[in-house]
Amino acid sequence: MPLIRLENIVKIYPGGTVAVDNACFEVEKGEVHALLGENGAGKTTLMKILSGCLKPTSGSIYVDGRRVEFRSPAHAMKYGIGMLHQHFTLIPSMSVLENVMLGLTDQDVKKEKLLKDIERISKFLRLNVDLRSPVHVLSVGEKQKVEIMRMMLLKARILIFDEPTSSICGPDAENFLDMLKKLASEGYGIVLITHKIREALKVCDRVTVMRKGKTISTLKRDEIKDERVLLEMMLGEHFLPEVLKQPREEYETPLLIVKDLVVKNDQGVVKVNRVSFEVRKGEIFGLIGVEGNGQKELIESITGLRKQLSGQIIFNNSKYSSSPSYIPEERMEVGVAPSLSVMKNAVLRDFEREEFSGRYGILKFSKIGEITNKIIHFMDVRTPNMNLPVKYLSGGNIQKLIVGRELMRGSELLIAEQPTAGLDVRSAYHVRKNLLKLASMGVGILLVSSDIDEVLEVCDRVAVMRDGRIVRIFNASEADPKRIGMYMLAAEVGLSSQ
Ligand SMILES: Nc1ncnc2c1ncn2[C@@H]1O[C@H](COP(=O)(O)OP(=O)(O)O)[C@@H](O)[C@H]1O
Ligand SMILES: [Mg+2]
Repeated sequence: MPLIRLENIVKIYPGGTVAVDNACFEVEKGEVHALLGENGAGKTTLMKILSGCLKPTSGSIYVDGRRVEFRSPAHAMKYGIGMLHQHFTLIPSMSVLENVMLGLTDQDVKKEKLLKDIERISKFLRLNVDLRSPVHVLSVGEKQKVEIMRMMLLKARILIFDEPTSSICGPDAENFLDMLKKLASEGYGIVLITHKIREALKVCDRVTVMRKGKTISTLKRDEIKDERVLLEMMLGEHFLPEVLKQPREEYETPLLIVKDLVVKNDQGVVKVNRVSFEVRKGEIFGLIGVEGNGQKELIESITGLRKQLSGQIIFNNSKYSSSPSYIPEERMEVGVAPSLSVMKNAVLRDFEREEFSGRYGILKFSKIGEITNKIIHFMDVRTPNMNLPVKYLSGGNIQKLIVGRELMRGSELLIAEQPTAGLDVRSAYHVRKNLLKLASMGVGILLVSSDIDEVLEVCDRVAVMRDGRIVRIFNASEADPKRIGMYMLAAEVGLSSQ
């Protein structure tokens, strides 16, 4: 018998949105059950119902086979169900100890056993913090562990995690997923809410896919041979990628050569320390690192936003007219002119080209309209019209506009910083697919990302940057997430720069 079972759950929010539509879901003891779906699929709502935060419009919840109705999260916790929300629910000014004791009864607190339990759980979770320090000084990962400890002390049997890795970076996310497995092996039932297929596959014993409020299917991990099956369930479409990564032995001409580059930040600290690499025609060269290790300054100097101290940046450009395409991380500051229209932003980087400007600098609006339309269709940018100032679009749509513009510019070199951050699953997939397509057409791509999975999915080579240096360049065939993570953090003794 499953620990818990949800049957035919419906949730209609007061505004009339049907967020959950006849969903069924169960969790067994000792399993990691991934709840996978696009943004807005209803995952959080369904789990808030299971954890007593929301009342269902209809449907039933069973715990150990007995029907229950939860009045509150505390009530659900009495049955052993605890949820860790996307935003922390700890009280920042209170100490770790005070926080983990929230919700415990006087009886629990009196027991000497409590401190022993805390000690044991700290060890288990590898949480090495002073219990008296206030929670606000803890790192994101530590706060997560404190929340888990709190749930464990409250005797949770089911732990629900809502997109837990979205706020932690690459290697820490890997460790976090390992911890989920460890919790499951201790007998906890774990629910991992996620929109990342790779992440779900990495840890789950089973996965339930949600789409538009419905639970589409529940599959065992070993029934899933191809992740595209999950993608289709999530998106509700049949499609096959048109381009797959083609491993190539040899590349042609370098399009970008960086040699012994040294760059300082605004405070005069050397952030890029004698970095050398090349991006060649037709390859996707990944640059990965924990934020703050010099990637930002490196890209700023390549794109001309920051002056280098020494070293060389050489563009080996055969088409004289095309400056490199650039998808910046700072979308609003660098990527668009917020108060200009969608149309003007669509040609922001090229409006001086003959194609778009006639004599005396008069813009050719019909041509500009054409290209804008192409970008809008290509990237599915949602905008009421082309004349709307860009600042009124949502973040995701602005991102799509920039990506579309840069992908379609036709330059030989593309520098893409976190090009899929903030995009929904479908658009992110579309962007990756097009990066591969561009590379197959001969474009050289420098992809800066903190998402190890993304980098491994599309890159031919991956450079790890740490402390201002490139500490290792992997060929895609020899790279795996764990090793990359180790180089990002220098987590293993004996790893030295090379
Ligand atoms: N408090 C709310 N009031 C009204 N609608 C909501 C509320 N929370 C979520 N929704 C809507 O319900 C749907 C499902 O949302 P959610 O459960 O957050 O999905 P997911 O977690 O899969 O991204 C979305 O259309 C969302 O806009
Ligand atoms: Mg959610």
